[in-house]
Amino acid sequence: MTKNYKRTLVTCALPYANGPVHIGHLAGVYVPADIYVRYLRMRGEDVLYVCGSDEHGVPITIKARQQGCSPQDIVDRYHGIIDSSFKDLGIFFDIYGRTSSGVHAKNASEFFRKLYEDGKFITRESEQYYDPEAKTFLADRYIVGTCPKCGAEGAYGDQCEKCGSTLSPEELLNPKSKLSGAEPVRKKTTHWYLPLQDYEQWLREWILEGHKEWRSNVYGQVKSWLDGGLQPRAVTRDLDWGVPVPVEGAEGKVLYVWFDAPIGYISNTQELLPDDWEKWWKSEDTRLVHFIGKDNIVFHCIVFPSMLKAYGGYVLPENVPANEFLNLEGEKISTSRGWAVWAHEYVKDFPGKQDALRYVLTANAPETKDNDFSWKDFQTRNNSELVAIFGNFVNRAMVLTHKFFGGVTPQAGELLDIDREALGAIPALKASLESDIEGYHFREALKDAMGIARVGNKYISDTEPWKVAKTDLGRAGTILNVALQICAHLSVAFEPFTPFAAERLRVMLGVNPSWDSIGAADVIAAGHAIKPAELLFTKVEDAEIEIQLQRLEAIKAEKAAAAEVEASKVVPQKAEISFEQFDAMDIRTATVLEAERIPKTDKLLKLTIDTSIDRRVIVSGIAEYYTPEQMVGKQICILANLAPRTIRGIESKGMILMARQSDGKMRFITPQEVLENGALIG
Ligand code: 2FM
Ligand code: ZN
Repeated sequence: MTKNYKRTLVTCALPYANGPVHIGHLAGVYVPADIYVRYLRMRGEDVLYVCGSDEHGVPITIKARQQGCSPQDIVDRYHGIIDSSFKDLGIFFDIYGRTSSGVHAKNASEFFRKLYEDGKFITRESEQYYDPEAKTFLADRYIVGTCPKCGAEGAYGDQCEKCGSTLSPEELLNPKSKLSGAEPVRKKTTHWYLPLQDYEQWLREWILEGHKEWRSNVYGQVKSWLDGGLQPRAVTRDLDWGVPVPVEGAEGKVLYVWFDAPIGYISNTQELLPDDWEKWWKSEDTRLVHFIGKDNIVFHCIVFPSMLKAYGGYVLPENVPANEFLNLEGEKISTSRGWAVWAHEYVKDFPGKQDALRYVLTANAPETKDNDFSWKDFQTRNNSELVAIFGNFVNRAMVLTHKFFGGVTPQAGELLDIDREALGAIPALKASLESDIEGYHFREALKDAMGIARVGNKYISDTEPWKVAKTDLGRAGTILNVALQICAHLSVAFEPFTPFAAERLRVMLGVNPSWDSIGAADVIAAGHAIKPAELLFTKVEDAEIEIQLQRLEAIKAEKAAAAEVEASKVVPQKAEISFEQFDAMDIRTATVLEAERIPKTDKLLKLTIDTSIDRRVIVSGIAEYYTPEQMVGKQICILANLAPRTIRGIESKGMILMARQSDGKMRFITPQEVLENGALIG
């Protein structure tokens, strides 16, 4: 380890308590953090492992409203589910706190107040949407309307879930408050902002100069934020769920969830160690490591460090090993669609197989790019790696020791080359395992640990002690002695990855070896009795995988059915217009003279048309539905007096009238019989 730290504080992103955790969360944050913590502890390091539920924010209030209960009811429910899932998977934080706790309210409030008193904030007045009936400001998610991009109803003020466009509430057509249905109005409000631009230079030096070793995805994202220029960030919101802003004139305002959540790491430490927490947060010899997913990078590398810097006296992260995202069967995991494998369901469906999930999520961890989880791969890795290599080796060594030596570790005689080679391969794997974990390369580290199991499995296959025992029991004893030593190495090396199996193995062997004994030839003394052999891992059967795949198929079918219903919906009538507005539109017939694709676009055709008044160019997005050849000579209808627009450098004068069908396909409108060009429609 690079610097001489006395202790390590590991934090894991606080999951939102509005849903259970799924395999994406586990692979991205919690399994790697747990590997790291278990490893450090095996090495005798002083580690504090902190997490908790993130219980504020608008989505929680929306869920509560939908379910007719209070936000506290929602977070109480999910806090319990998440907490148990972690424990079930062997993830034992020193504290799993919650941001709705009294300790946190006090701490977050005090944190804000100090920055406020030290003049670290600026205030800004802005116009925000306000519900005049519910008499409250509206978060973007509380405003719904028609998507300006795809026409879908029910788009949110921050995003259209139909077409995925990022929106701002101003862009929504026909906006309505989700609370009362009233049309929102703009109203002035004042908020506190952290002027991040003041920390830009310092962040550049600290991260871009000082932490070039950070993962490239993390470093790259930080660099692009800094290169783009930082702006003041609002740290308060008009909302009634959260930590109240503790200053005069801030009635009805709470701390922004992303301001209070990371302070939650500190509050949870205080809750656990009321008299000793500062040692973990304020000593230069604490190594602080934040485990997070990629969507949290800006908050943990830019915003929270700036908050800590502004406050003063806190340590900053030594590393932020953020992962990318995990997909499920090739598709993005989606909580709202139910496209996920939930931790609490997994432990019910696969009792006793927590290690298999931890193993597969590590082997496929999205460390530098998004990665995929598939049930078939899960089955293959379990059956042909954990069962067939690690489990098989241990089982053979133990069963043969019972069969030929009554369960007592045999004496090792003179070692032959093959024995020395097997034992000799392990120290290099151990060294690589250490540097991989310390460098946050957990996939590679797992390969190193698996390398030890492969060495053992090959050794026992090559030496065939079950045959040797028939003619030379002494030699068979030597082989099994070596094999049992390797089993002992595995019981330590796998502790970070598959802790349940590692512990069972230690119990079966009746030893509790230190990390440093990995590779040693005398971890288990001759004459030491081992317990009866039990299988460390069991196969995952096809039928179990089939059940999971069918569940996902059902979700797909449900989604397809919903899309069909959506598509068959009649488009509601648009807002009324006056006769004058209609009469102002010049809609007329025209004929396409020339048509060509616009290079480097999929959708655009450049059409030269005869309107009888002129020959003009119209750029139209119909290339998905018609080839240029199909268009030439066609009579069409156009809106001729639409203000010209330049599209891809071409001036487009007017619009071709098209009809959109419920399946989304477009067709142009053509007169039933050929008319003269320029005939007015209306
Ligand atoms: O993205 C999330 O799930 C957030 N709840 C993470 C918060 S991490 C920390 F800042 F608390
Ligand atoms: Zn849309």
